[in-house]
Order: sequence, then C-alpha cells, then structure tokens
Amino acid sequence: MAQVRFGVVGVGQGRSHIRGFQSQAESTVVAVCDADLGRATAVAQEYGVDRRYQRLEELLDQRDIDAVVIATPDHLHGPMSIAALRAGKHVLSEIPMALEPTHMREIVELTDRTGLKYHMANQTRFAPALISAKAVVSSGRLGELFYGEAEYLHDMRYAQYFPDGRRRWRADPEHPQTTLLGGGPHALDTLRWLMGIDQFVEVTAYGNRKGLTDRPTDDFTVALFKAADGSIAKVAVAYGLSRPYCLYFSVYGTEGSFERTRHQRPAADTTTNYLYTNDIPYTPQMTPMEVYHRIDPAVPQRAAHGSLEIIQAREFLRAVREDRLPPIHAREAARSCLALWAGLESARLGRPVPIEPVP
Ligand SMILES: NC(=O)c1ccc[n+]([C@@H]2O[C@H](COP(=O)([O-])OP(=O)(O)OC[C@H]3O[C@@H](n4cnc5c(N)ncnc54)[C@H](O)[C@@H]3O)[C@@H](O)[C@H]2O)c1
Repeated sequence: MAQVRFGVVGVGQGRSHIRGFQSQAESTVVAVCDADLGRATAVAQEYGVDRRYQRLEELLDQRDIDAVVIATPDHLHGPMSIAALRAGKHVLSEIPMALEPTHMREIVELTDRTGLKYHMANQTRFAPALISAKAVVSSGRLGELFYGEAEYLHDMRYAQYFPDGRRRWRADPEHPQTTLLGGGPHALDTLRWLMGIDQFVEVTAYGNRKGLTDRPTDDFTVALFKAADGSIAKVAVAYGLSRPYCLYFSVYGTEGSFERTRHQRPAADTTTNYLYTNDIPYTPQMTPMEVYHRIDPAVPQRAAHGSLEIIQAREFLRAVREDRLPPIHAREAARSCLALWAGLESARLGRPVPIEPVP
C-alpha cells in the first residue's frame, strides 16, 4: 500500500491526530472536516491540508480517503464511526468508543464483517512509564493481582462555556460529557490493560454533582469493578475539583505493588512511578521505577497532547498496513466502554449492575 490517506473530523483534539499522522512517512492527511467551516479552514491552512468539508458525509464520499479520525463531541463517536466503517474507511476514534451499547456492538460487528481496522484513541496506553509498569506486571513479579486503582482528576470548570457565554459541547444539556464515558476510558481502559483483566463482570458506582452544578449529569463518579477471578478495580473521575490535572494508577499483588505519585509532572511520561516487590532486598519503602521503555528519539517530546498521539498513529498505521488488529481494537474498546456504561447505570439506579460480556 502507498501512503494511507486520512481525513480528520473535528479539529480541536483532531489537531493532535493531524500531527500524529503527518509525522509518519506512511500516511498523509488529505482532508479535514468540521461543522465550524471557519475553524476547518484555519486548521487546514495551518497544517497544509488541501481539502476541508463541513459535513461528515461529504468527507466519506471521497473515494481516495482510506481512513478517518473521529474527534468530535462524545455523543457523535458511535454514529460517526459506524457511518465511516459502512463507507469502507478504517477508523481511529477519540474516547469514548460510543455512549450507547448498541453502537459499541455495531462497531464490533462491522469490523468483524469487513476486516476494517478500528482503534479507540486512549493514548495513555502508550506512555513509556506505563508500558514499563505493564512489563513488570506481566513478568509476574507482583504475584497474584487483587486490586488496582485509577483516577482521572481533571478540573473541567474552565471548559464548559465559551467566553461569550455559549455552552461548549461538554455542558450541552442534551448530550453533556459524562464522567465514566468522558475521561473514564483513560482511567479504566488503561487500568484493565495494566492489570491484564480481560473483562469485568459487575460494577457498583456512586456519583454526585457539587463542582459543576449547571449540568444535567454528575461531575464526580467513583466505581468499583469486579473481575471474574475476584480481583477488584476502583475508578474515580472528577471534573469539578480544585487540584491540578492528575492521572493516577496503582496495582497491588501478593508479591509487590506499583503506584504512581499524585504529584505529577505535566506529561504522563515524566511522572515518577514507584515499585515495591518482595524480591528487592532491604527496601522498607517504595522505590522509584526505572522507565526502560523509552520514547523513540524520532518522537518529539511535548508536555501534553503530541508525543503519545504520534506513537499511537504509528501503531494504528502498522495495523492498517500489515492487516492486523490495532492495540485498542473494537472488542478491546467495547470491553472497557460497556463496563463504563454499566458504571453510569449503577450510579443512576443505585444498585450493582452486571457488565455485558464481549465474546
Ligand atoms: N484523548 C485525549 O486525551 C483527548 C483530549 C481532548 C479531547 N478529547 C476528545 O476529543 C473530542 C473532541 O474534544 P475537543 O476538546 O477537541 O472539543 P472541541 O470543541 O475543541 O472540538 C470539537 C470539534 O468538533 C466539531 N463538531 C461538532 N459537531 C460536529 C459535526 N457534526 N461534524 C463535524 N464536526 C463537528 C466542532 O465544531 C469542534 O470544532 C471529545 O470526544 C474529547 O473527549 C480527547
């Protein structure tokens, strides 16, 4: 295959993906699409992209486009990914995969039937420090895992309104950004992967709304997920809190523990992580963990969005070009997002909710 030709839909976070795919020799971005045509035009000019469209359908009609990035508001991910797969395009979609289980199931079914590639863009899984932690967990040095924690703590109060008072999509009364199916995939999908848990079977969650009261949904949720082997994961997502951004993980096993600090540097890659294992002699305290999976020197380091999206773009391209499953393929994404959907249901209903299995 010559270069894989991308169209990027939604040019806010979509710009990180433009940078990602423009940085790879095997891909090119030929079009952008945004309901705000002025924004699409400005971004097309800034990144030297030839074509810009206002409607997804116009972009999907372009026969020379092989793959589509979906970076629009959360409630559009499911329907837009389905439309793109039906139009024969590979899809890299922002988190979450979809808000509705029917859309999640349909994306799995479409990728099964067509062989088209789908990846949910939880770039946190590509953070070198977490890849190092995953290697330690996979080596068995932590023994049998029984508990893990993930926290997505992101003060989003600044991101609800435009300066002129109009609501941004995150505060849209009809489709507000939810906790667990908003930032939640960064926490749960990464923790599930870190702990090596295929699927969770049941969830109990609670939520409240104290920091972002002018919205129809909770701005804080804490959820306990139970796996089939009895291990447990706690996930908290908060948007209305007073604290700098933090993405926290810990994993506990019978022979050792992994924790990252909540005193974080801006980038996931530069935060110190700590390890304790019974096979490190004379260590009465957690030990800073070496990051031995290093970022490719060809990947520029950025404080926030940039470097991990570049690694993610490379992995997605490999999957398309070598006809193999991307790292967070449709089933992987559905395993995380169906669990998160059930967590929101549990908080709403006030009781434990079973999680639909993904065969
Ligand atoms: N993975 C991450 O770390 C990360 C970071 C930021 C945002 N995101 C995700 O990216 C998505 C977009 O968030 P954002 O911060 O870029 O928001 P944003 O408001 O900056 O950008 C969204 C864009 O989508 C456009 N849009 C809305 N409806 C559309 C439609 N029907 N067709 C075409 N374009 C449409 C808007 O005009 C806007 O330009 C969200 O799902 C968000 O959760 C992920």
